[in-house]
Amino acid sequence: MIGRALHWRLPRTLYARVALILVIGLALTQGASFWLTLTERDNATTDVMMGYVEREVASSVALLDHLPASERADWLPRLARRTYRFILGPGETGAPPDARLSARMAESIEAGIGRKYPVSVNTIPDSREHLQVHLKLTDGAPLTIDVLPMSSIPISPWLPFTLALQLAVIVACSWLAVRLATRPLQQLAKAADALGPDLKGERLPEKGPSEVARAARAFNSMQERIAGYMAERIQILAAISHDLQTPITRMRLRVETMDDQVQGARLQRDLAEMETLVKEGLAYARTMHGVNEDIHRTDLHALLESLVYDYVDTGAAVSLDAHESVTIATRPNALRRLIGNLVDNALKFAGQAAIEMRHDHVNHVVISVLDRGPGISPEALEAVFEPFYREETSRNRATGGTGLGLAIARQLALALNATLTLENREGGGLEARVVLNAA
Ligand SMILES: Nc1ncnc2c1ncn2[C@@H]1O[C@H](COP(=O)(O)OP(=O)(O)O)[C@@H](O)[C@H]1O
Ligand SMILES: [Mg+2]
Repeated sequence: MIGRALHWRLPRTLYARVALILVIGLALTQGASFWLTLTERDNATTDVMMGYVEREVASSVALLDHLPASERADWLPRLARRTYRFILGPGETGAPPDARLSARMAESIEAGIGRKYPVSVNTIPDSREHLQVHLKLTDGAPLTIDVLPMSSIPISPWLPFTLALQLAVIVACSWLAVRLATRPLQQLAKAADALGPDLKGERLPEKGPSEVARAARAFNSMQERIAGYMAERIQILAAISHDLQTPITRMRLRVETMDDQVQGARLQRDLAEMETLVKEGLAYARTMHGVNEDIHRTDLHALLESLVYDYVDTGAAVSLDAHESVTIATRPNALRRLIGNLVDNALKFAGQAAIEMRHDHVNHVVISVLDRGPGISPEALEAVFEPFYREETSRNRATGGTGLGLAIARQLALALNATLTLENREGGGLEARVVLNAA
């Protein structure tokens, strides 16, 4: 329960947490040592004062005792001190002293004169500590010592300022130290985030405190290793895909000269499927390697129109709905392949595709590819982007395909700095949405 309450109150960032712990810890120890110094100072000054009172009172009483009774009154002002004065007379009576300081004061006075003059001590009810010590001089005259014990010297007025200044220094130092410690973490997170699919992330600077430099080195070499493994794998994929093309072509030629027409047709279909796989595998490997195309200012309307014409030419039902033309800086071939993959899917699974383009006039252009096909089950909406993933239904329906189309599309979207999402439409069908940065 307490743990939870604490958990809720703790600030979210490591930065704030460490700063808080440091500031609270340092301020507490600071307060404790301040308190300790004050108490020590109090004790020490009280000790000194008591010794002084012991000697002073003894000599003053001795002096008064020696003086003739008529001259005593004249001396009283000279013998008075900050914490006590002498009164000729019996004084007031009261309860015995109970406060610590009064008790010590009485003790010191008794230690100074008690052996020669029996004394009695009592407190005087007052707004502050007040006591009187009564004794009789050798000639029988009563003498009272009126004591107003004062605890040590008051605190100097600049002390709060010094304290505040110290606290400010503590806060500033903690802030600096924590910043120093957490900034590299932020940089590391940023660098890790920035590591794109092409694995050509920025190298972290390998300098600063040794721990930071070491983490940066480790991060950089990890980045290189990942890029190395990836490149190797993609090369293998590309090599296999590429080298399969030749035997497939040879097999095709052989099938064409086969006598069995029925088997021949089946084999042709299988070979065509293998060819698609090889082609898409190669395309996937290439996009994984990064898109090397340069950025051009591109008229999106013209690009989509020519794409649609190509489909319509082959008899496919593809339409375009774009009200105005938008020109943005992008990689036109990659964008064309991306939209092409989405249209291919719509045609394959729905038999028709509608392309829509909208410009939100802030800095986004949205291109949607819509169909009225079966859509995708909600739990598979993300999974279909994985290479070779195909929904069970599409496997059974023998639509043919490798499951690489959307994986390639995602890679292309990343290379275009765009986002690609799928959504089932109201009334059935799928909407594949590409959001491009127009800024
Ligand atoms: N427009 C669509 N309508 C319904 N299902 C789709 C659509 N587009 C993709 N899918 C589903 O996503 C899977 C993966 O698509 P994709 O990566 O293009 O592979 P392929 O087209 O080779 O099957 C498809 O097998 C299919 O199940
Ligand atoms: Mg596909």
